[in-house]
Amino acid sequence: MKRIAIFASGSGSNFQSIVDSVKKGQLDAEVALLVCDKPGAFVIERAQNENIPSFIFSPRNYEDKAAFEREILKELQARDIDFIVLAGYMRLIGPTLLQAFSNRIVNIHPSLLPAFPGKDAIGQAFRAGVKVTGVTIHYVDEGMDTGPIIAQRAVDVLDDDSRETLQQRIQACEHELYPLVIQKLLSTVMA
Ligand code: GRF
Repeated sequence: MKRIAIFASGSGSNFQSIVDSVKKGQLDAEVALLVCDKPGAFVIERAQNENIPSFIFSPRNYEDKAAFEREILKELQARDIDFIVLAGYMRLIGPTLLQAFSNRIVNIHPSLLPAFPGKDAIGQAFRAGVKVTGVTIHYVDEGMDTGPIIAQRAVDVLDDDSRETLQQRIQACEHELYPLVIQKLLSTVMA
């Protein structure tokens, strides 16, 4: 069975949906590690509740990105991780991890890329007044939300949407789509 590491910085609702899919038998993988760059993030509590080990670090305690990515890499190797899933990890991945996990790192982004990359994609779409936005899952490269697209799903922006109601529907879409796409990747290109 493939062993995945999830990288997250925040609330971890996508972390939870992936773990729940494993528990329901819909995703044939083991979530073997949480990597978190924000001590105190709620996702850490979620990992504890699920008995999933975590590597938590503060980037400011390291000289540079390469230094903390070397530590992450040691953890990944010690736990035989096959595949990295970014779920709200608010940092660019550097060459240390990209080279070691070439084509084995994916990310989810709450817009139809290449529209609205970067921070607050939902707010960006809302303010732009688009009528359709959505969710993108893509391979990770050195850029900001730029790697090859794997899957997308559209979400309509309704006339009476607020930023919050739009966010709720986009997140519900993420929670459904991400586990499905991970399962598909693990059973095809990663098999
Ligand atoms: C998600 O909207 C994801 O698309 C983006 O960051 C958010 C993370 O949310 N990259 P959560 O921590 O999984 O709740």
